[in-house]
Amino acid sequence: MSANHPAAMAFALLAMAAACSTAPAAEPRPAYLDPAAALETRVEDLLGRLTLEEKIALVHGDSKFTTAAIPRLGLPQRWFSDGPHGVREEVQPDSFHAAGHTDDFATCLPVLLALAATWNPDAARAYGDVIGEEARQRGKDIMLGPGVNIARTPLNGRTSEYLGEDPYLAARLAVSYIRAVQSHDVASCVKHFAANNQETQRMSVNVEMDERTLREIYLPAFRAAVQEGGAWAVMGAYNKFRGQFCCQNDYLLNRVLKGEWGFRGIVISDWSGTHDTREAALNGLDVEMGTNKPYDNYYLARPFREGLQQGEFPAAVLDDKVRRSLRVMFATHVIDASRAGGSINTEAHQTAARRIAEEAIVLLKNEGAALPLDPTKLTSLAVIGENATALHAYGGDSAKIKAFYEVNPLDGILRRVGDSVTVTYSPGYRSANAAPDLVERAVAAARAADVAIVIGGLTHQKPFDCEGADRSDLKLPFGQDELIRRVVAANPRTIVVLVSGSPVEMDAAWLAQVPAVVEAWYGGTEAGNALARVLFGDVNPSGKLPCTFPKQLADSPAHALGAYPGRAGVVRYEEGLLVGYRWFDTKQIEPLFPFGHGLSYTRFEYSALQIVPGTGAEGPVATVEFEIANTGAREGAEVAQVYVHENEASVPRPVQELKAFRKVSLQPGEKQTVTIPLGREAFAFYDPGQHGWVAEAGEFTIHVGGSSRDARLTGGFRLATTSFAP
Ligand code: BGC
Repeated sequence: MSANHPAAMAFALLAMAAACSTAPAAEPRPAYLDPAAALETRVEDLLGRLTLEEKIALVHGDSKFTTAAIPRLGLPQRWFSDGPHGVREEVQPDSFHAAGHTDDFATCLPVLLALAATWNPDAARAYGDVIGEEARQRGKDIMLGPGVNIARTPLNGRTSEYLGEDPYLAARLAVSYIRAVQSHDVASCVKHFAANNQETQRMSVNVEMDERTLREIYLPAFRAAVQEGGAWAVMGAYNKFRGQFCCQNDYLLNRVLKGEWGFRGIVISDWSGTHDTREAALNGLDVEMGTNKPYDNYYLARPFREGLQQGEFPAAVLDDKVRRSLRVMFATHVIDASRAGGSINTEAHQTAARRIAEEAIVLLKNEGAALPLDPTKLTSLAVIGENATALHAYGGDSAKIKAFYEVNPLDGILRRVGDSVTVTYSPGYRSANAAPDLVERAVAAARAADVAIVIGGLTHQKPFDCEGADRSDLKLPFGQDELIRRVVAANPRTIVVLVSGSPVEMDAAWLAQVPAVVEAWYGGTEAGNALARVLFGDVNPSGKLPCTFPKQLADSPAHALGAYPGRAGVVRYEEGLLVGYRWFDTKQIEPLFPFGHGLSYTRFEYSALQIVPGTGAEGPVATVEFEIANTGAREGAEVAQVYVHENEASVPRPVQELKAFRKVSLQPGEKQTVTIPLGREAFAFYDPGQHGWVAEAGEFTIHVGGSSRDARLTGGFRLATTSFAP
């Protein structure tokens, strides 16, 4: 332990105080400073030493991203930081404006929706490791991510910050991410709890939904984050839920999160998400952040302290909040010499960012093997579109990253093809202002080249894919549809690459003409290299859509039902359980590209499905076993997806639901047996009457395949007995 380590300082101060006093014996080393003491012992010991003022200091911010230090006891300031896909730049203490430091560059990972497109918990672990290590190097204690709100509407401005439309997929990835972050002695703060599914009126809208929908769609990823991932922090959402603001919502925070789920960490408010001292004090908020008031006027600052002093709130209410903060602090070894160190912008982090970006890229369409491109058979390439040169790491608002560097797609392509191919670049469109001659120049460039690559999409700025606003429609903005139509008319070998953080509508006229379409997402620091490696076949794409791409907005459930963005300040989730593919499949609406879809440069064959019943007593109730073979000529990876359908349920259920998946890498000609155990929860629905999950005896159909609309194998399974679990 170094002499200026917080624990050493505290111990020295205590020893000095003891030496100067006339007391006969020096106090032994306090239990809270002993890393070998049990966590709860340390918590209780320290709690007992804190004054009222010091306790109050731990339950509210003293700058935009800190709570106060308690130097007397050796507690440093506690540092929070955004965000989901990298460590945000430093901001000024009292505003969100950049602090202007030169040592706060970080690795920008692909956005969370891209991570979800990898369908790979190992990728989520690598992602979390980068976040954890960089957070430690930057001195952060609590990282504000991952976001696990379900993609209810494709218009949500923050879709890119979340893990898609399926609770099971989101849960699996969140758990890996959180465990990895926290293995570096940094707490992970899962957000925004709960039902924060639109940016329109986000600070005030009241969300109403039935209990089954809450439990089956909107809560599972949070529950998994807390119970399986062990997340030490949860951020309340801005919106109201059933009439009460989420950051001070008795039902969500006290009853569900802390009561039913046994959460022992801290609930943090979203920045300015606190509205009332009494509700914040009593309904489960533990740390108030970002309120637009002087710090001492925060709801949980002076007003709370006065309430405590006047007996309005029992002291135990404050102690519970403080205990939670201390628990998180000791769990992440904040004052221990053993606390993990960190590193930033390392080659290993950059390589991880590139690999995740590569694995996230989704090949949506590839007719006549238009991709991959073979540079030895090309002499000229026309790269078109603003997103070929645009940088996106610094977009998204609170999720913005001051990237150490960011390779844009054009650079990635230029580096990959070297001098052997003549590459021209024309923007084709501009997000800032209309420029009609750009289309003509792009068309001329396309005509003159062997192949044209249009790199378009959205901007990662308001009102496209950015916090603070939803999109107004699903269309590609800035005349891109017209541009692509013209380009493909001039050169049939046109590849379309979309750079976006949420689904976009694709014009039927160009989609029919263009042989290949790629969704590249906001790919972070290494975006351009990752894209080039996929386009030129160094990497075989293996990403799958984590959300449905509808043909038109009106096909999406919330929009089909007129249940977005709500009326008179209330949004009712009338589609209930039928979110994303659950709606499209149950209502038999053809999507543009279905949930789970993604092509490869090789082919996979599925065979030999067996569904083996288990006892369910200790092990799985069924084991799904099948074979996958790579029958093409390239190494590749396939995400095998398992969907469950209950043949005759006693309650209405979505026609099918994702209950398992496995990403399998195969050499050409290789075949593997995949074995996936299914627990009873894979068959269960939530019964609000019984407050728990019912798996009914009866027949189930299990589909296994490469997307929600690509069932390659189908089998039946009979669940022998009905069972119940809370
Ligand atoms: C966002 C949070 C973010 C916080 C701090 C809020 O506007 O909703 O996701 O963590 O700001 O920047």
